Amino acid sequence: MSGPFPLNAWYAAAWDAEVGRALLARTVCNQKLAMYRTTEGKAVALEDACWHRLLPLSMGRLDGDSVVCGYHGLVFGPHGRCTHMPSQETINPSACVRTFPVIERHRYVWVWPGDPALADPALVPDLHWNDDPDWAGDGRTIHVKCDYRLVVDNLMDLTHETFVHGSSIGNRAVAEAPFVATHGDRTATITRWMRDIDPPPFWAGQLAHARGYRGKVDRWQIIRFEAPCTIAIDVGVAPAGTGAPDGDRSHGVNGFVLNTITPETDRSCHYFWAFARNYSLGEQRLTTELRDGVSRIFREDELILEAQQVAIDAHPDHRFYNLNIDAGSMWARRLIDRMVEAETPSDQRVVPIRPAA
Ligand code: FES
Ligand SMILES: [Fe+2]
Repeated sequence: MSGPFPLNAWYAAAWDAEVGRALLARTVCNQKLAMYRTTEGKAVALEDACWHRLLPLSMGRLDGDSVVCGYHGLVFGPHGRCTHMPSQETINPSACVRTFPVIERHRYVWVWPGDPALADPALVPDLHWNDDPDWAGDGRTIHVKCDYRLVVDNLMDLTHETFVHGSSIGNRAVAEAPFVATHGDRTATITRWMRDIDPPPFWAGQLAHARGYRGKVDRWQIIRFEAPCTIAIDVGVAPAGTGAPDGDRSHGVNGFVLNTITPETDRSCHYFWAFARNYSLGEQRLTTELRDGVSRIFREDELILEAQQVAIDAHPDHRFYNLNIDAGSMWARRLIDRMVEAETPSDQRVVPIRPAA
């Protein structure tokens, strides 16, 4: 097993704009990648190790659609095959580097670190709000020094908003409202409605700005996890009693917190997030303000997650107990474990013991 993550899955490796006509080094699921775009704009991910003496290819340079190694000048095409070796006419036919399936969707470049034959484009997680014209938003990446599953835990239980984000999106209602947990084969959903409550500062501001309303609200948080590591959170508020819990959100404001958390190593991850909204779509200033505001809120999570990882490492035998609020993360982890287990070769699950010859 390569780590606490399945390899047969699409992982966001970069924002689309990060991949261009320069070599980008990025590690996904312990796999080092050299990424770039061909002259036609197609994103490519090669193993970041030269076939000859393993120098990272990302230390080389692009020549058209090919990569020239920065040590002895071997040239590799976008399909990974060596096309030139200095000082010799014939090319060793085994000279190639691994390439990874790549798809661009919803503003990310996704790579599939596992078996290429299984890389089904239909399995890219749904984050369409990122480039849907009915929604406006933007996001950032946080490099977090923790197991990616700690970020999943964090997002699957938003009661932490009350205690970690009390000055913006948290208040008592979040920690006290009941919730419903459901799940499918690859998804788990937590739904929480808070009716007739005072909105927390962030949402009070949004509703006043977009709809001119001040007062009690019905607030919702619907957290949808898609294994192994994508979480889209449907959030918003509407004036209390205007029908939002029954499906009429037209008087309210709706946002989606879009998260996909790509393991970098067993103990670090690339946390890509964005916040998209369906109101005040033409206000670019609001887009930037919201991105910066959410950035500040997520910085509070980053401090917690890294401190938690340090504490976990210091207490390797600690046994965790689950509370009601952990229902969402328990389901998420169960679905992740299932994917990892499905990839573990059966001969590694039970090690056969053979007598010495
Ligand atoms: S290490 Fe790349 S050409 Fe020698
Ligand atoms: Fe948080």
